[in-house]
Amino acid sequence: MGELVYLGAVISGVVILLSLVWRAVNWVWWKPKKLEKYLREQGINGHPYRLLSGDLKENTMLTKEAQSKPMNLSHDIVPRVVPPLHQTIKNYGKKSVIWTGPTPRVIIMDPELIGDVLSNKFGHFLKSQGNPMERLLVTGVINHEGEKWAKHRRVINPAFHQEKLKRILPAVYKSCGEMVSKWEKLVLGAGSCELDVWPELQNLTGDVISRTSFGSSYEEGRRINQLLNEQAMLLLQGLQSVYIPGLSFLPTKRNKRMKELNREVRALIRGIINKREKSMKANEASNDDLLGLLIESNSKDIQEHGNNKKAGLSIEDVIDECKLFYFAGQETTSTLLVWTMIVLSMHPNWQVRAREEVLQVFGKNKPDFDGLSQLKIVTMILYEVLRLYPPAISLLRVTSKKIQLGEISLPPGVELALPAILVHHDRELWGEDAQEFKPERFSKGVSKATKNQVSFFPFGWGARICIGQNFAMIEAKMILAMILQHFSFELSPSYAHAPYTILTLQPQYGAHMILHKMSPPHIPKVYIPEDPVLQIASALRIEINQCFAVLRDMASGRDLKKFLTVIAGLWILSIVGSCCNFLTFFYILHAVPVFYEKYEDQVDSFAEKAMAEIKKQYAVFDAKVLSKIPRGLLKDKKKAS
Ligand code: HEM
Repeated sequence: MGELVYLGAVISGVVILLSLVWRAVNWVWWKPKKLEKYLREQGINGHPYRLLSGDLKENTMLTKEAQSKPMNLSHDIVPRVVPPLHQTIKNYGKKSVIWTGPTPRVIIMDPELIGDVLSNKFGHFLKSQGNPMERLLVTGVINHEGEKWAKHRRVINPAFHQEKLKRILPAVYKSCGEMVSKWEKLVLGAGSCELDVWPELQNLTGDVISRTSFGSSYEEGRRINQLLNEQAMLLLQGLQSVYIPGLSFLPTKRNKRMKELNREVRALIRGIINKREKSMKANEASNDDLLGLLIESNSKDIQEHGNNKKAGLSIEDVIDECKLFYFAGQETTSTLLVWTMIVLSMHPNWQVRAREEVLQVFGKNKPDFDGLSQLKIVTMILYEVLRLYPPAISLLRVTSKKIQLGEISLPPGVELALPAILVHHDRELWGEDAQEFKPERFSKGVSKATKNQVSFFPFGWGARICIGQNFAMIEAKMILAMILQHFSFELSPSYAHAPYTILTLQPQYGAHMILHKMSPPHIPKVYIPEDPVLQIASALRIEINQCFAVLRDMASGRDLKKFLTVIAGLWILSIVGSCCNFLTFFYILHAVPVFYEKYEDQVDSFAEKAMAEIKKQYAVFDAKVLSKIPRGLLKDKKKAS
């Protein structure tokens, strides 16, 4: 009997062992080989599958090599940012496959098929779930599927309505105002300074998310941000190697720290939520931040669905969503901003045009919601930056069932890569000038620029399109408008152009720039006298002042046509005002050579000399005008200005 039991145990052990071995062999060899044959039969080619690592080793080497040195100052960034995808498409065509370990990843470049995958009509294209450590960081609606996703999206949506977004602008203004003041101090004295704006913009968007998410609890928000950044760094280290199931459960130093950070972040957010729920019940808290709006929308959802258990989000769900706001909303927006500053330094004429528009709409005043919605040039610029430098370079999906995608039949378990960066740079879709910065492509909106194809999807597409898209755009516009109002900027000689990805598309060596203080257009407030001659004189004075401010911008932007138009305008004005003839002549004589390369470095000294002369002349002009205004009509000059 005892022997029988022993024999039974041994047989069971052997069966279990054999089944484990079979599973392992199937996972690392049979299944990938079967999939490879299946895909090849349909014309989807790639490197032959290599045991366990697939293309990972080669891809790591290619990426390391491409990113070992900076590139030239161009927007043709695909070969540097995604060398494996670039090489695969070059060797095997647009319908090809790469192996990320034992899982095949089919590359989809056709806009129609991208639309089919992202619209996900039958629910067969799921989000790729990543490993358990990734799920500690990336939580919430972005990971859910089916009914759970629909419920989370329904509850979160109201917080991102256009109307509600108005409420978060003061927080963005406050955070950005702090950064602008800091930069103003740095340029004080010399009028300019060198600065790596990349960490500055990262801190800024982190601050914005802390303020807009947690309002008054924003200091705790800052701490959460720090902890999540540490968690992201640890996760990135882990993602460098092949993921072996179960590995994340081992008590390694990194795994233990990741879990510790996760516990701390959740406890902090839980504390904020509890505090907020109490004060909302006591009508003591406003719900102007994302957390307040989320709690409000959640209570409504629970009431509308009759306290049904399935309605509304639990406190753990709300914590997940708050964490997600940081993960999804911070780095993406800071990369959009940093590439916009870099690109506008590479194309100073567009920097000038953007600034002109901002000054025309807001002057030096605080940007408001309605004004931000009117910014056309700035919007075109942001779209073109999102096309050339999409923060999320590629979207991933995985098939849950056998499915037909155009002419391709896909079995379950195949990953699909929708590489926005490749599609956005594709000459067949965007024309021969696809690698050039041309915001005018978007002058008639996105659908005209894309000819209604899914060839531009920086925020995703379909039902799962980014929920924070309007939030991000309004935030980026506000920050850019405030920077343009106060500074002009150019690339520092130490800037090295090196786009690369760590989760988002970032500048590898930072974004070193030279910031110049914008001299505010000095518009003296003179009491408008009744005498028509004096009225013309003071109006003229204001016009000339504004023209010179624009002129300085033009000179730094080297936009010859505009520059000459302003000169012509000034000349006419000065003839009318007779007293400025000499002045304009002086400016033309000295400023025109600015446009020739060899005088490039003298732009500033010319501008400075001209401005000094202008000021001198103005003093004389002022004295003449003031002497004609009867005493008593003139307001106290110091007070008025
Ligand atoms: C320039 C800034 C941003 C970019 C480029 C961006 C990009 C994206 C993309 C590409 C997706 C779709 C991912 C996919 O389908 O696999 C997405 C989803 C999402 N984004 Fe953004 N995002 C930005 C800003 C924000 C902000 C500010 C927030 C919130 C504060 C946010 C919250 C979300 C959420 C919650 C989702 C998941 C939506 C769902 O699955 O239903 N994003 N984002």
